[in-house]
Amino acid sequence: MNTPDDDFPQAGRKRLILPSPIGTLGTGARDIEPELYEEMQRGAVYMMGDNPALPRMPEKPALLDFYRLRFGSFARRHHCQSAKLAMQSGQPEKVVLACFLHDISNGALVRCDHGYWSAQLIAPYVDEEVAWAVRYHQPLRYFADESVGYQYPEAYKKYFGEDYQPPGYMRRDHEYARNHRWYMSSRMITLFDVYAFEPGPEIPFEMFEDIIGRHFRQPKEGLGFDGSPVAHMWRSMMWPNNFL
Ligand SMILES: [Fe+2]
Ligand SMILES: [Fe+2]
Repeated sequence: MNTPDDDFPQAGRKRLILPSPIGTLGTGARDIEPELYEEMQRGAVYMMGDNPALPRMPEKPALLDFYRLRFGSFARRHHCQSAKLAMQSGQPEKVVLACFLHDISNGALVRCDHGYWSAQLIAPYVDEEVAWAVRYHQPLRYFADESVGYQYPEAYKKYFGEDYQPPGYMRRDHEYARNHRWYMSSRMITLFDVYAFEPGPEIPFEMFEDIIGRHFRQPKEGLGFDGSPVAHMWRSMMWPNNFL
């Protein structure tokens, strides 16, 4: 009898998923590797390739495929909202794009040090200034700039506690960014980086398609298959459950 996942890799066998250590270390999640190993001895296989529980990605994935098929609703909405605010305030297209991309690593890759990871993911495909702005929005978030009306986020007081102090590398990188000629591009990201997580109508991606088309160099082989230094990072988002 056919099952719905028969046209996926490893059909007919139980597929075992071992979560990546970076997602479980220190969380109290039980180490299930020994059990999975036992199951594997009994005929199950470690998952490799498309996971039937996830929407299948196109053969040549484009930027928005990751937003549509891999990101959760928070990440999707946050990026659209931020880019929409930048657009409405008349920011240059590069800044709108930077806002649309700024937390991209949180979508389906990794949260910690997300500005740095996000910048690395997009660097081969965008103007150097866009990647730079994305990288430094992370440290800049922790430091006010009254000249543009940016204050330390109320949300962060709730998220991290009133007494949270950013570590040394974040202070250092904030200082560096503050004196850089692209400072304002990065600062603009922090200004439009508002959290609006109440449920509501989705902001349509279509309104950003032209800007993405003009400023994001979509590789013809698809993200993940162009041989760039970060291609493996995009593949990891396509196949987050691969054993190796
Ligand atoms: Fe961020
Ligand atoms: Fe953000």
